[in-house]
Amino acid sequence: MRKLIVANYKMNGNKKLFADIVKKINKYKVKDTKIVLCPPFVYLDEFKIKSNSVFLGCQDITNIDNSKSTGQISPNMLHEFSVKYVIVGHSERRSLGENDELINEKVHVCINNDLMPIICVGEKKKSDKLDAVLTQIQSALKGIEKSYVPIIAYEPVWAIGTGKLPTVSRINKVADMIRSYISDLGYKNSVVLYGGSVSAQNYDEIINANIDGLLLGGVSLKFDEFIEIVKGIDHV
Ligand code: PGA
Repeated sequence: MRKLIVANYKMNGNKKLFADIVKKINKYKVKDTKIVLCPPFVYLDEFKIKSNSVFLGCQDITNIDNSKSTGQISPNMLHEFSVKYVIVGHSERRSLGENDELINEKVHVCINNDLMPIICVGEKKKSDKLDAVLTQIQSALKGIEKSYVPIIAYEPVWAIGTGKLPTVSRINKVADMIRSYISDLGYKNSVVLYGGSVSAQNYDEIINANIDGLLLGGVSLKFDEFIEIVKGIDHV
């Protein structure tokens, strides 16, 4: 299966940086990966992508189907910019108060509107039990058709932006646990990504884990390092 590499620019970047990233990504010939770029909403229009292996994503979506919603972004607005993927339930949004119920509503909004949610889950502390991860998955997928293929990004909160990484064997253990849990819930397939402190220096170790791709934060802003990771995965 083609590996999925997701760039989460978070609340970073500006027109100049994104124009440069788009110019460079449009020149890169993707071989065997799928790339998803997730800029802040206000920059979506800067992303005129010319490759059919590079897709546009965003970092959030509304949970309500009502135009009287100041500040919210609807699926139709995202379709106007050809957005295909939506990061849902990132720990940085959970820490702003998003709970499992709200995340489940957002997953429904995505799926009902032909957008693919990338559902982020992860334990807060390294010493935390992993049951919390399964609870997050179960809540996020409540009421979602079994024919759907969930995309789950395993992102231990303690590894995000800290330079601390789980071992490959821990990633394998959690990825296997996630897959078998999703299968027990009745889904035939799933896509499991890893995210948290992946860099050009450590990705080659991480990508040997039993995962279907990566969710990259900080390193996405440094195009040379980002493309080094993409190339390393793309050309194997
Ligand atoms: P990081 O962020 O790669 O900067 O640790 C990952 C994420 O938050 O998705």
